[in-house]
Amino acid sequence: MNLRRIDPGKKRVAILISGRGSNMQALIQAAKAAGYPAEIVGVFSNKLDAPGLDYARANGVPTAARSHKHFASREDFDAWIDAVLEDWQVDYVCLAGFMRIFSNGFARKWSGRMLNIHPSLLPLHKGLKPQQQALDAGDAESGCTVHWVIPDLDDGPTILQARVPILPGDDADSLAARILVQEHRAYPQALAMVARGEAVFP
Ligand code: GAR
Repeated sequence: MNLRRIDPGKKRVAILISGRGSNMQALIQAAKAAGYPAEIVGVFSNKLDAPGLDYARANGVPTAARSHKHFASREDFDAWIDAVLEDWQVDYVCLAGFMRIFSNGFARKWSGRMLNIHPSLLPLHKGLKPQQQALDAGDAESGCTVHWVIPDLDDGPTILQARVPILPGDDADSLAARILVQEHRAYPQALAMVARGEAVFP
């Protein structure tokens, strides 16, 4: 990991969600602290009824929502998201349960400025139902990974990982709940490292 301090000012961050938005809530709450190096300037959802949108609005964060179904192509939808992010003058984008794959052009443009969180110890168990994948593999531990986004799904250089044990009797729900507690700590911590210039895209 590179260690260098590049900018003492607060970075402007947008969060992209598709649903519940509990990681988004953790980021919004963390950013309320005076010394936190980033501010959340907008939340975008591809689901108009994502519960996370209500929470963002109630906390004074601007929101935008548009369904991908209204666009002829992935590129067209991504161009619309890109325009929203540019309008918000975003420095960094945090994907928080945003369940859409980006076009290569969008992923390339935001490369080095876009983070994702995934509930597994990547590179293990990419894609859907990673907690069940960990149980099926007989793993002794699992966790979450905050990583830089590259065009490949759930791949890209790791910023931070947090580990949890897999306990006898665990099912996907109990394991997901244990991992989620760590997600809510790891994502704000990773974003702070990025915003302070302590973690940089390699
Ligand atoms: C989180 O567990 C997140 O890690 C996962 O979706 C959940 C969203 O929950 N993301 C992925 O699986 C990405 N491949 P949230 O909406 O409550 O933050």
